[in-house]
Amino acid sequence: MTRQRLVVANWKQNTLTAAATSWIRAVEAGLDNVPLPAGLSVAAAPSYVALAACRAALAGRLTLMAQNVAAQDSGAFTGEVGPGMLIDVGIHAAIVGHSERRSLFHEDDDLVGRKVASALSAGLSVVLCVGEPLAAREAETHEAFVLGQLEAALAGIDVSAADARLVIAYEPVWAIGTGRTAQPEQANEMHGAIRTFLSNRFGAAGRDRSILYGGSVKPLNAAQLIAQPEIDGFLVGGASLLAEPFLAIVRAVASDGTVSP
Ligand code: PGA
Repeated sequence: MTRQRLVVANWKQNTLTAAATSWIRAVEAGLDNVPLPAGLSVAAAPSYVALAACRAALAGRLTLMAQNVAAQDSGAFTGEVGPGMLIDVGIHAAIVGHSERRSLFHEDDDLVGRKVASALSAGLSVVLCVGEPLAAREAETHEAFVLGQLEAALAGIDVSAADARLVIAYEPVWAIGTGRTAQPEQANEMHGAIRTFLSNRFGAAGRDRSILYGGSVKPLNAAQLIAQPEIDGFLVGGASLLAEPFLAIVRAVASDGTVSP
């Protein structure tokens, strides 16, 4: 199995329906002019309430994912949206464990692990986010921190060789929304450590996981980052809100880091 490439637009709590659907149309039209190599896909993660409108606007070049998903499928959990509800509206993927969910909404490793397990068993694809805070980077404990998050989130998960539904996103917290990107070599080093962990844990199926980088990815740094051998794509926040910068990032990935028009 070869590693898949993936670029995801994470809109966070932004973008009302009209802007969301025009973004979908603009990006899909833009993708018509980008020769996407086999194995590269592009996805957008709108808010829950914009998912249905975005899905209706899709022509099929993009896929959609939710920004979050509940650990439980249904029940007395006011405000939550479970995996079955996403599948019911045609959404088959979710981001889990984003650092904003962890830090602002108190999602701990245990909850993130339960979300990963229930989403995968319901049939969703999962982009599992991990990443260290600045203090861990400065104390040089960043690798242990991230591998600890993975260990907790993947306890009890079996990734079989046929299962490409688990993607990891490494997003150092100090690089998210700060304009401060990890150096390509720093990101590559952490991706390598993550891949070794996955490979020790799941064999070839672990080694072949796609590992995305996130944290202030922009058209200007995308080519350098994607040129790193361990980086398989991006989870993009701020630079994904407008169609054109997002397309420029997709073009950088499509051309394997060699051209960034
Ligand atoms: P950013 O966000 O690109 O704005 O840093 C990335 C993310 O939070 O996924």
